[in-house]
Amino acid sequence: MKTPKPTVLYLDDLKEQLTNFSANFFDVYKIYTANTTIEAREILKQYPIEVILADYSLVEAGEITNGVDFFESIMPLYPHPIRMLITGQGDKEVAVNAINKGRVFRYIEKPVNDEELKMIIDGASALFRAEERYRQLLATLEDKVKERTARLMELNAEKNEFLGIVAHDLKNPLANIRMFAELIHRDGETLSKEEVKEYTGDILAEADRMFTLITNLLDVNKIERGFKVHPVELDIAGIVQAVVENYRQRAEQKRLHLHFEQSSPNTLVMADEVATMQIVENLISNAVKYSPNGKDKNIWVRVLQAQKAVRVEVQDEGPGLSAEDKEKLFKHFARLSAQPTGGEHSTGLGLSIVKKMVEAMNGKIWVESEQGKGATFIVELLAA
Ligand SMILES: Nc1ncnc2c1ncn2[C@@H]1O[C@H](COP(=O)(O)OP(=O)(O)OP(=O)(O)O)[C@@H](O)[C@H]1O
Ligand SMILES: [Mg+2]
Repeated sequence: MKTPKPTVLYLDDLKEQLTNFSANFFDVYKIYTANTTIEAREILKQYPIEVILADYSLVEAGEITNGVDFFESIMPLYPHPIRMLITGQGDKEVAVNAINKGRVFRYIEKPVNDEELKMIIDGASALFRAEERYRQLLATLEDKVKERTARLMELNAEKNEFLGIVAHDLKNPLANIRMFAELIHRDGETLSKEEVKEYTGDILAEADRMFTLITNLLDVNKIERGFKVHPVELDIAGIVQAVVENYRQRAEQKRLHLHFEQSSPNTLVMADEVATMQIVENLISNAVKYSPNGKDKNIWVRVLQAQKAVRVEVQDEGPGLSAEDKEKLFKHFARLSAQPTGGEHSTGLGLSIVKKMVEAMNGKIWVESEQGKGATFIVELLAA
């Protein structure tokens, strides 16, 4: 792209000077000439001027003014053009003074030959363009800083909210532990063996609840700090079946019937073993936790082959999810419509961790559900 000609405004009360300047430089500059300061201001308003040349002594409609005052008057509105003063003999002192006060960039003493004048204007235009680039860079940087600050404030607000929920969730079990411990401490001698067993059991359960929350929080933290997975070749069917067996007793206690189905012998995936176990566990534990208690409902856990992936499905006959639930489902502390049906604990962190883990392994997770009609959670991991 051809660089555009420098734009120059020349202000002089002698028309002849303006005509000469235009004639000499019209092919190298885009020239605007002004016979009065009013005209000069009009031009500045309309055109992007890079360099301004103004004669020092100007006579306008009988009044005497000068180039330095003109420059001073335009500075608040047009601070960027490079201002240069043309002086005759005897004006040198005012010119130097104006330079020192920052009103003009330099002065040009008459008489000046064309070649010299061209060098000076070229230099001034180059300076203007360099400053302009710098100003643009600065503006972009400022925009970026603003954007980032806004994002950081958002994250900070999120963290504060997170912290509030955590503090609240830890406070309840701790208050319970304190209460049971106080009971034993105060009435220790009069309590029956059964009572002591009951209260210490409660203390243990509350401590477990705190422990689960803290473990989940550490997982969230680990993931947010940039979680590294170590994918290896795994037979996911084996892992899924092991988790199903692990949950069978808990499920039977709620009269839930757990079914394991494998529709293909080919179930090798490239995945992180620990993360995969945690994913499968979360899904199966949710199905057991949120399905109705004692109603002979079923939970089907299936391992199927998919396009370049292996799919694990966990389908239940529980309460399902509303449209609103689905929106929040994979976020932190999503405790939604469904409540645990057997006194289990719910931190609302499980699925947010699961989703991050699945994504870290380039897999996919989603849910298919209608409220009141059960839910099917589906995970796909890359086939080995
Ligand atoms: N199979 C399901 N059917 C209906 N609702 C579910 C199901 N699984 C999860 N939910 C809802 O989604 C919410 C979030 O689940 P998530 O697994 O993230 O947390 P949680 O089970 O409450 O706690 P955690 O997994 O940390 O012990 C649950 O509180 C529950 O309301
Ligand atoms: Mg869960």
